Amino acid sequence: MKILIAYATRYGSTKVVATWMADHLRTRDDVENVDVCPVAAVCADLGDYTHIILGSPLYDDDLLPEMREFIDKRDPEFSGKPLAVFGVALHELGEGLYGNPDGGLAYFNRFFYYLPVKPIYSRFLGGALYPERLNKEDYKLVKEFFELHGQSEIPFVQELNKKETQEFVDKFLQLAAVKERLQKRIQKKKGD
Ligand SMILES: Cc1cc2nc3c(=O)[nH]c(=O)nc-3n(C[C@H](O)[C@H](O)[C@H](O)COP(=O)(O)O)c2cc1C
Repeated sequence: MKILIAYATRYGSTKVVATWMADHLRTRDDVENVDVCPVAAVCADLGDYTHIILGSPLYDDDLLPEMREFIDKRDPEFSGKPLAVFGVALHELGEGLYGNPDGGLAYFNRFFYYLPVKPIYSRFLGGALYPERLNKEDYKLVKEFFELHGQSEIPFVQELNKKETQEFVDKFLQLAAVKERLQKRIQKKKGD
């Protein structure tokens, strides 16, 4: 298997998640190669990959714009490949989505409804919030959010979870293998 993990990030936590995924995939005997890079830097022909994983943090209930652009530009190249999508979010801000596999798939299908391929696996994973890293605009937005919820300061939040990221990629490859077996069986039946 040759796997691409393409991610978008503003403050680095999605890069951490993507890197943990790649590290874990590289320990598997059935994985030949893993490339992990920001979406803006993906110039290789996606035809070289057998599996694709896309990841973006959630900002104001949306993907980062560079991920949306990547999907818009490169969508025909996803065709015929198992695709997984992960969102990075915070429990408090992404209530109902974070940690909920069905919430993740339903949520992400909004972005994929026009694609030739739907993600076969999708969920939200824990991220992090570093108040000192936020730019002025984000700081203001997040401060307002926490003030509305009775907190005068933006808390440091750390929900990054390595085990969760490893489970995500293992589950994806497991589902991709099931799909491949089913497709082979269907093709064989058609040929009979
Ligand atoms: C301005 C702003 C808006 C956010 N909006 C959401 C949101 O709508 N839902 C959510 O679950 N998390 C939200 N978050 C939390 C981020 O998704 C979380 O901090 C994530 O780990 C950031 O990823 P990054 O470090 O890769 O940029 C928001 C964070 C900021 C700073």
